[in-house]
Amino acid sequence: MKDLVTALSLRQSLHSFQDTGALRIFYGPGESEHSELRELAIDLFRGSDHDHFWITQWKSISSSTLDAVCTFLEQQFKSTFGSAVLMDRSGIASESDSRRIRGSPPTGRFGVREWGVPYLVQMENTKHPGLFLDHAELRRWLVRTQSGKTVLNLFSYTGSLSIASGAGGASRVTTLDLSKATIEWAKESWIHAGLAPEAGDFIYGDVFEWLPKFKKKNLQFDTILCDPPSFSRSKTGTFSTKKDSVRLHEEILPLLKPGGVLITSINSENVSERQFLEDIRTAAERCDCHLRVLSRIDLPPTFPTGMDLNARYLKGFFLLKLPS
Ligand SMILES: C[S@@+](CC[C@H](N)C(=O)[O-])C[C@H]1O[C@@H](n2cnc3c(N)ncnc32)[C@H](O)[C@@H]1O
Repeated sequence: MKDLVTALSLRQSLHSFQDTGALRIFYGPGESEHSELRELAIDLFRGSDHDHFWITQWKSISSSTLDAVCTFLEQQFKSTFGSAVLMDRSGIASESDSRRIRGSPPTGRFGVREWGVPYLVQMENTKHPGLFLDHAELRRWLVRTQSGKTVLNLFSYTGSLSIASGAGGASRVTTLDLSKATIEWAKESWIHAGLAPEAGDFIYGDVFEWLPKFKKKNLQFDTILCDPPSFSRSKTGTFSTKKDSVRLHEEILPLLKPGGVLITSINSENVSERQFLEDIRTAAERCDCHLRVLSRIDLPPTFPTGMDLNARYLKGFFLLKLPS
């Protein structure tokens, strides 16, 4: 468990445990050479009285290793350990939901705080806890910058980027996702975070159906967030980041105010950062829109990789729309 000890002391030196109750405490691909541990990630979700651990495995791990990991967590987090659940993303098991392997997770959703902002997460009967920890830095940026802004959050999932924007004082946040269940979760989280109901619009629908409607109404936003899955299927057809990023950004760019910021990202291994930027550039040319790259979206230090920067799978940019 040497690699886990090193990982925990890194988090301690980053002061992460004091600042946030939701963080990745171990990222195997970047923090271990061990044949099994490198196939694991461990996320901590600190509830009101106990710590709950979401363990993801990308390849099948022996039960003795999993057992040793759980015992290590129990010992390290002695007085606060609540439970560990396993999400198996190896082979056919990746179709199933998470399952508890130690202790008792809370029933249903429960509150955690990331740098003071409340979110609702869930450990069981789900494939994901509801909070993508790799977007932690983006949420922190939104909390610091969105005061008085209008925000459109596309492919919102459980709306964590909307809640961060709302917590940062956004005047209105529109949250859109194709899954009814996650839009309901996003609404519930918005209320849980104490945000004004009238400042949040929640839309269950397809981005490709709704963006033209917004354009027709001449709606424009100060900030647009776009974080699609690599592939999805809806009534309007299929979407893939490899084939459809130009089309997607052509729909989005007219909805951004001049002086506004588009934060757009992908998690696709089969699209290079260069290709992604090229697709955005093509879309901007077609819309006669001038963009400036402000910076990259990066993974937080709790997702370390080795010396290979290409192993940093998240690709994304902050882009400023220049007045024409
Ligand atoms: C990668 S997740 C987004 C994560 C989110 N940005 C966050 O930080 O929590 C992708 C989401 O896109 C949604 N989605 C997929 N296709 C869509 C479409 N055509 N229109 C709207 N939402 C879609 C899925 O339901 C899923 O919730």
